[in-house]
Amino acid sequence: MSTIGDRKVRRLFIRTFGCQMNRYDSERLVEILGEEDFQPVDDYRQADFIFINTCTVRDKAEQKAFSYLGRLKQLKRSQPGLVVALGGCVAQQYGEDLLRRLPHLDLVVGTHGVSRVPAMLARYETTGERQAFVDFSYDFGDESDGRSQLCRPEVSSYVTIMRGCDNFCTYCIVPMVRGGERSRPSDEIVREVASLVECGVREVTLLGQNVNSYGQGVAEELDFAGLLRRVAQVEGLLRIRFTTSHPKDLSLSLMQCFADIEPLCPHIHLPVQSGSDRILKRMKRGYTREHYLRLVKELKAIREDVAVSSDMIVGFPGENEEDFQGSLSLLEEVRFDALFSFKYSDRPQTAASRLDGKVEEKVKLQRLQTLQSLQERITFEKNEVQVGQTTRVLVEGPSQVGGSQLSGRTPQNRVVNFQGTPELVGEEISVLISAGHAHSLEGVVCVEDNVNLKVVKERSWCGK
Ligand code: SAH
Ligand code: SF4
Ligand code: F3S
Repeated sequence: MSTIGDRKVRRLFIRTFGCQMNRYDSERLVEILGEEDFQPVDDYRQADFIFINTCTVRDKAEQKAFSYLGRLKQLKRSQPGLVVALGGCVAQQYGEDLLRRLPHLDLVVGTHGVSRVPAMLARYETTGERQAFVDFSYDFGDESDGRSQLCRPEVSSYVTIMRGCDNFCTYCIVPMVRGGERSRPSDEIVREVASLVECGVREVTLLGQNVNSYGQGVAEELDFAGLLRRVAQVEGLLRIRFTTSHPKDLSLSLMQCFADIEPLCPHIHLPVQSGSDRILKRMKRGYTREHYLRLVKELKAIREDVAVSSDMIVGFPGENEEDFQGSLSLLEEVRFDALFSFKYSDRPQTAASRLDGKVEEKVKLQRLQTLQSLQERITFEKNEVQVGQTTRVLVEGPSQVGGSQLSGRTPQNRVVNFQGTPELVGEEISVLISAGHAHSLEGVVCVEDNVNLKVVKERSWCGK
């Protein structure tokens, strides 16, 4: 603990695993605890409160959470004032049991519990009572609390538009740990987007497990296409993205948005999971390979330059060589711009964990490697085609490659690294692509196309 004036400032460290839902919740927690005089720190050894936001979508993700928590045992012993909390999907899955199993854990905060943290902490600090909150009683009413008032220096931000999922794909634990699907009222969403833009945010990504079914159960009955149109009205908002879209609910009216909502980026993440109808059925995905291919065709007909990315699972129970070949041929047919692929992992309480025909680990690994090297070739070929083209890039910040390189994204969500100065962060600029790599592009800032930006004129150049 440190003191600023007569205020006692406590130090908060958050480690986030998993998907954007967890990242969003972690951001909210920083803001909620900011109001309680907590300040984030980069080193967990300096913290008064450590919150581990966990994922359980695959067994490996769960292992990571427990091994991280294990490392804190020693620290907790040497620093008795330290409070350790486990949040997110693993917390939701095991609940109070975790307090029995792990004596150095103080709080268990389920997926609907972020706004309860200040109260749980206060109770722990006054009574010493270790607590678990795993109710699904959370409502969207207080979603914007804290978040709207605080400005973070961010170019791109996530905005949750719905929580939970009702789909119960047979392999997936998410509905069990995130609860049923609930849409957030559009007024609240628009208000949050507007306040983010006021703080300098240029791009928002609307988040949900299946954004296509947005609006069910919301009184005003706005569907997702309608919501996009409302969000697009927010003045000053440059780009809109969304994730994730379930193919079974992708409507023509949503596809049409790519043609006529200007800030909407031409990129859709449309997880296919398998290229075999037999496996799609066992997964309970609710569409066929043919239907999926038709959707991609329709999307490209509506907007030729739309990028499509996807998720794929290999080694689902019952997947034979022919099914796997179906996934490979689907990759060749669609030529995804990006693909996230996973080995099937048995999850507790899921229908697939009870299915027969489990695929050997060795075979799963082989299939994953084959699939990934095919996709690498496709992504590389697609990136190479970009060379020589000029594209708009929203500059997000320093590049991971280091030096004075900056990084940003094209409307199609391709990462571009280029030489530039920090003043460019937050600007949308034209970049000439000079090289294509397996996972990113390289470019040079074009002076001619960015003359309105003084900083570009003075310091950058174009290869043309
Ligand atoms: N709601 C999203 C994604 C949720 S989880 C959707 O419907 O697509 C993200 C990805 O993890 C899934 O798309 C799937 O490819 C993968 N996944 C989920 N459960 C899995 C499991 N048991 N084993 C392996 N991969 C899994
Ligand atoms: Fe899981 Fe399916 Fe829901 Fe996505 S749609 S979160 S894969 S159950
Ligand atoms: Fe993982 Fe939970 Fe997201 S299980 S993928 S963090 S919803």
